[in-house]
Amino acid sequence: MRKVLVTGGLGFIGSHTAVELLGRGFAVVIADNLSNSRAEVLDGIAAITGQRPVWANVDLADPVACRSFLAGHPDLAGIVHFAASKAVGESVQKPLLYYRNNLGSLCHLLEHVAAHPACAFLFSSSCTVYGQADSLPIRETAPIKPAESPYGNTKQIGEEILRDATKAHSFRAIALRYFNPIGAHPSARIGELPLGVPQNLVPFITQSAAGLRGPLEVFGNDYPTRDGTCIRDYIHVVDIALAHVYAIERMLAGAGTEPVEVFNLGTGTGSTVLEVIAAFERATGVKLRWSFAPRRAGDVVAAYADTQKAAAVLGWRAERSLEQAMADAWRWQQSLPRAPQ
Ligand code: WQD
Repeated sequence: MRKVLVTGGLGFIGSHTAVELLGRGFAVVIADNLSNSRAEVLDGIAAITGQRPVWANVDLADPVACRSFLAGHPDLAGIVHFAASKAVGESVQKPLLYYRNNLGSLCHLLEHVAAHPACAFLFSSSCTVYGQADSLPIRETAPIKPAESPYGNTKQIGEEILRDATKAHSFRAIALRYFNPIGAHPSARIGELPLGVPQNLVPFITQSAAGLRGPLEVFGNDYPTRDGTCIRDYIHVVDIALAHVYAIERMLAGAGTEPVEVFNLGTGTGSTVLEVIAAFERATGVKLRWSFAPRRAGDVVAAYADTQKAAAVLGWRAERSLEQAMADAWRWQQSLPRAPQ
């Protein structure tokens, strides 16, 4: 059976990807040090799939621990690498933690792939590498803009490390640039578990609607958009997870010629903050309390994906709607304990 390592597999996108890989017949090993996740996520994965992946609590940024862990898995068909610190604001306060953790873990994993070149490698990248793109929708060939945060810089540098490492060694990799992943598994057994006050829009909406937070603050209403609020490409996390299965299958089939292939993962549709609120209210019947607030530093006005390359090359398209994502996110929120984390 083809075995795939999912690093950060107890996290939001990682756990949903583990579920879809198991559903496609892969054996899954999870490496996760619980720095931004909870061990109970494993129960959710088992409840959905009927299989309980092997889980190693390992710090991949620790070279000795990472090498020792990987020595126990010389037969990996692939590595899907999610494990990284990802809070934009925190990265500004603690840049060295972000560079050490995000880039150190990547280098340690790539050392393994260099020694086992048949092992496919997927890198979790982000639309944040584009900054405010010059034209929309954003294609993979859009210029990379100077990063707005150390977090975003770790994604840009991560892609450069992939390019240099695949040149020097005989292996290939795929980088997947996520737009805005939202929602939860329809079973409500796994979903987003933001620790502390949610920084992202959708988890704040569901926690506010659940009465765990105050009214939503809409950051800015004077942007040059159709209703004055920022535009993003919100994509259901299950669609994101399925794209990883398509990408790993592509690599295992030996398709592709470029050392590093890059794909945008989005729906191709932009939604304003007010449209997201309206979609939530339509999907759930819950009236959201919100008010306008000043703009948030670092926000780009608009970002949404050109999805042609992923469709043509991966054969993958997002299929779930914004409303479906809202309904799934709300069902997940209602399954959680009432106390804010
Ligand atoms: C979306 C929109 C906010 C909260 C971030 C990371 C990016 C990626 C996805 C990892 C913006 C507005 C938000 C709130 C609001 N993460 N908003 N009130 O900033 O597009 O992307 O998550 O890869 O790297 O930067 O997502 O959900 O924070 O914001 O009005 O309480 O919602 O201003 O317009 P963002 P977000």
